[in-house]
Amino acid sequence: MGNSKIIIAIDGYSSTGKSSFAKLIARKLDYIYIDTGALYRAVTCFACRNGWIGEPSEENPCPIDTDSLREGLRKISVTFRPTGPDGKSETYLNGENIETQIRSMEISAKVSYISALPFVRKFIDGILHAYRKERGVVMDGRDIGTAVFPDAELKIFMTASPHIRAERRYKELQAAGNPQSIEQVLKNLEERDYMDTHRETAPLIRAEDAILLDNSQMTIPEQLQWIGGILRERFGLEMKAD
Ligand code: DC
Repeated sequence: MGNSKIIIAIDGYSSTGKSSFAKLIARKLDYIYIDTGALYRAVTCFACRNGWIGEPSEENPCPIDTDSLREGLRKISVTFRPTGPDGKSETYLNGENIETQIRSMEISAKVSYISALPFVRKFIDGILHAYRKERGVVMDGRDIGTAVFPDAELKIFMTASPHIRAERRYKELQAAGNPQSIEQVLKNLEERDYMDTHRETAPLIRAEDAILLDNSQMTIPEQLQWIGGILRERFGLEMKAD
């Protein structure tokens, strides 16, 4: 099986480092990397810009004008464009680069409400459908191993303690000039965990055949060594050293 390309589905909780890990694996295997969370973030950004998400209230923490959003989705295009030869790509909404905006706390606070809407999931699934015929794909998200690629050859389910995740995310936000208190970051993570695991359509759940990776106490090189062993033993695949 050494030369055949596989599908790798990586799911898990928010800020467990799924994207960084998936990106590295894709680069080291010369595979395509697809960040499905970026698509949900792009739709959230689109809804915010059009004023279809109202102010939170006691009764409704995220009021959404679903009729306008449903109609609006007919007119949008969300795409990824490579940034260079290293396999990285950025997200575009109707031709505009929105990569920085979709990582803001404003979008993070609303994306789980938008991604719980069945018509939004259908729209994103339509985009992801194009990749179903591809081989050599690493895709990360919440429902990749259960709904998008249920027959993926390798499924990983990532988790880490909420405090460690909040600390990592806090540092990333600081470095990006997006300061938030660690309490706010932790609150957002816990809210998203709850929403993502409790929604009706395609909730975040570990697929029966997914391998658990708790990286609370693991460095990135340790995680790469771990996956390297699995790829070699199960699939005869070798990752590039760089
Ligand atoms: O991976 P992320 O934090 O960028 O994802 C943002 C949100 O999108 C997350 O809170 C849940 C949602 N999401 C989803 O519902 N299904 C996916 N496959 C990917 C993300």
